[in-house]
Formats: sequence, structure tokens, C-alpha cells
Amino acid sequence: MTFSETIYRRIRRAADILRAGGLVAFPTETVYGLGADADEESAVRKIFAAKGRPADHPVIVHLRRACDIADWAINIPPAAWQLAESFWPGPLTLILKRSRRAKDVVTGGLDTVGLRVPRHPVAQDLLAHFGGAIAAPSANRFGRVSPTTAQHVRQEFGESLDLILDGGICQVGLESTIVDMSGVAPAILRPGYVTAEQIHSTLGIPLAAATDASPRCAGQLASHYAPQARVEIVAVHDMESRYAALTAAGLRVAVIDSSVSGSIPTASQIPIARDVEVYAQQLYSTLRAVDEAAFEVALVTLPPEAGLGTAIADRLRRAAGPRDDSI
Ligand code: TXA
Ligand code: MG
Repeated sequence: MTFSETIYRRIRRAADILRAGGLVAFPTETVYGLGADADEESAVRKIFAAKGRPADHPVIVHLRRACDIADWAINIPPAAWQLAESFWPGPLTLILKRSRRAKDVVTGGLDTVGLRVPRHPVAQDLLAHFGGAIAAPSANRFGRVSPTTAQHVRQEFGESLDLILDGGICQVGLESTIVDMSGVAPAILRPGYVTAEQIHSTLGIPLAAATDASPRCAGQLASHYAPQARVEIVAVHDMESRYAALTAAGLRVAVIDSSVSGSIPTASQIPIARDVEVYAQQLYSTLRAVDEAAFEVALVTLPPEAGLGTAIADRLRRAAGPRDDSI
């Protein structure tokens, strides 16, 4: 990046790169995305190659305005428009029946498509200058922790991307809430900043439990969002004894908690905010910090599972899930 180049010039250059079929990492209010022209199959394929992601995984299509969903989806139920009106632009993705515009490379061959209108000003400006739709998963290698700063994206991909737009620290810090609106009742496939309680009170109808067991769908992979260190979920009252047992076995152990004390040395404690909004925003950088300090195990307690705490607990469970490389 040249010092004199303003973010606005970079956004224009990013739009040119997208038009030429290249990849651009860009900030959203949730996490950084790795974007390509959603209408160009060869461009979207480059995302999968860069991430090392299985080619049958669907990617979210980012749109500038809510009304654009009518180009990408059919049979849009009134409840989907209601959610769009209440939460867009913002950290919500809607799964809808796809139109012909949504190609197999974007939908992973499913008959649905994930659509989202992000609210980050840099994402909004990029969509406006580009003029099209941007297919973008989170800008991390497959299965790893999502990036919440431009520096994280550089750590993931080095200099191999055409351009990384720096929009500062992501405000939300966790991936968008995904709501499946393609079935008989709305179902949350991935919890996020927009909570089940908010969706329920907006729609006034019961939500269905997510039942789709396909590993290609959001949040169905046991291990996801994982740092290098092994993550273990521990009850508060077991923390000190678990810490003692693992360190006695010679492991370098970190404790991620909002209130640890007692026998655990300060150097092993990684404080996390008690406020769930701050906790969510800092979670992924905290998991990265665990790796940077070369801890082998991170012990963590779950926050109360209501509201945003549900999304934090979901990501922690996935970070603690069984790893492919442990089989
Ligand atoms: O906040 C976010 O959603 C970020 C930013 C960049 O927008 N994006 C993101 O994308 O988290 P990704 O690809 O890392 O996660 C998207 C999830 C995947 O688990 C994918 O399987 C699911 O959305 N997904 C996409 N389209 C789908 C569909 N048609 N049906 C079910 N799940 C879908
Ligand atoms: Mg992801």
C-alpha cells in the first residue's frame, strides 16, 4: 500500500480488480470477506483455491441494497422482506430459493442461495463502485478462525491476494446470523449478532429447529473457527484443577476467562470482556493471541447462552470440536 493512497482510491481500485475477475479482501461489520464477482464462475473458483475450501461449499452473495435480492432469489416470502427491512444493512444472511442468476459455483449446487447486505461503509462503497454482487466467504483458510482485522487477513494469505482493503477492527466480530427462509418455517442455521429473540419478535412466528444435517450448510461442521491450540470448554469450578492437571502433564496452557484468579499464574490468563458485545468482538483476536503466544491448550468457560451469548458459545463449541487432523 502506498502511503498517499486513500481508502477511497483503494476502493475504486478494488472495484476494478473485481471487474477484472480478481480477488479482494474487504471489511464487513462481522468479519473480513474474501470477495469475487458473484456472476463470474472463474472468479468465484479462485476463492475456493485461495481458501483451500471444498468446492461444493456455498458462499454468501453480498448485495448493496435489500431490493437487489429479487435478482438472486425467487419465491421470497413476506417474512424475508420483514427481516431485510429490520436488519439490513447488517449482520444477517438470508437463505432463499435461488434464481437462475445464482450459479452452482456460488450455491454449491443447492437450490438455495445465501444473501446479505453488509453495513460496513467500506463494504457499501465497494459494492456501489463495483455495481455488481460480491460472493465472499470469510477471508481465512478453510476451518480456521475468521479475520477481524486486515492484519489477520495478511497473516492468513500473505501477499497472495490482489488487494486487502483495511477498514479497521470489525465491530461485531462474529460471522452473520444465517436464517433459512426457504422452508416452511424460518430456521437459524448459524447464530450471530442478530439474535433468535430479535428474529422471533420481528416475525412473531415460531422458528423451526435447524435440522439439515448437510455438512455443506452453515455451522454443520464439528470443527470450525479453530485456532492451532486445542480448545477445551471447562466449567468455572473445574478451571483450576484442569489447569493444574494439564500443566503437570507438561503442556503450555492458557485460560480465557473474564474472572480467573487463585492459583493460575497471570502469564497464563487471557482476560476476556464480561460484556458479551465486547467478548464477541474480541473472541477471534483472542484465539489468535493464544496461538501467537504458542499455547498448546486454551481452557475457556462458556458465557450464558442467551442473546449474543448463544453465538459466542456456538463458536467456542466449534473451536473445541474434534479436529480432522486428530483422527
Ligand atoms: O458474516 C458473514 O457471514 C461473513 C462475511 C464476510 O459476510 N461471511 C461468512 O461466509 O461467514 P462463510 O462462507 O465463511 O460462511 C458462510 C456460511 C457457510 O457455512 C455456508 O455453508 C453457509 O453460509 N451457506 C451459504 N449459502 C448457503 C445455503 N444456500 N444454504 C445453507 N448454508 C449456506
Ligand atoms: Mg467462514
